[in-house]
Amino acid sequence: MASRLPSHTRVLYARGAGGDARRNHTIFRHGCAHRWPAIAALAALALAACRGPQSALDPAGPAAREIATGWWLMLAGAGVAWTLVIVLALLAMRRGRSLGPAAGQRLILVGGVALPTVLLAALLTYGTLASDRVTGRGDDAAHVVRVTARQWQWQFDYLGPDGAVGATSIDRLVLPLGEMVEFEVGSEDVIHSFWIPRLGGKVDAIPGRTNVLRLRADRRVPMRGQCAEFCGLEHARMAFAVEVRDARGYRAWLAAQAVEGEGDAR
Ligand code: CUA
Repeated sequence: MASRLPSHTRVLYARGAGGDARRNHTIFRHGCAHRWPAIAALAALALAACRGPQSALDPAGPAAREIATGWWLMLAGAGVAWTLVIVLALLAMRRGRSLGPAAGQRLILVGGVALPTVLLAALLTYGTLASDRVTGRGDDAAHVVRVTARQWQWQFDYLGPDGAVGATSIDRLVLPLGEMVEFEVGSEDVIHSFWIPRLGGKVDAIPGRTNVLRLRADRRVPMRGQCAEFCGLEHARMAFAVEVRDARGYRAWLAAQAVEGEGDAR
């Protein structure tokens, strides 16, 4: 009888005490049935992390959308490669005999040389073309914000057309909806990393150097930025709020900050 049962059942029979095979089989099936709600609950928890104010998979701008698309493409590619490897492994175990030398060589040439070359070349091309869209290189920016990182604070200086500081905010970034903003990112002490997951990729804030990144917010949704480079004991708390306002609200806010002066910019 045991030979007609699935192999995992047989393993349990072998381990069962006192030879009560049927009872062990029942326990195993119940264990499986109870596992599904737990797996579904875990999956729901994991998927909940795909949304929210700091999720790169819930993009609110073109750069972040590019990154999210790349992530899903790579996940799909990895899924296909994983399935292929598992199917080959199962086939190898099933057939119980090895391939002939010619067939084996063909498999290595196709699966080990041609397929990775084609896939990696496609990924390289896609990544190279996407990198400009991620950093916004070549895009015209409507505004310039100078970002200064320091232990443990973010300072945002909103520059006017003449390059002078028109407004300043600390640990809070205000952005215009649908308008490209150029960020000039620097640091006063150690290396930090400027990152707004819903808007785009990370860029390092390096002392003595200015790194440029252009981002646009296309949705007015809750957003949070976070330092993405370990910079000391307060690193995890080096975060900032991102507030997106419509064009009129943004200009009104800038004007109000200019009147209030830098000291009251918080
Ligand atoms: Cu600043 Cu981590």
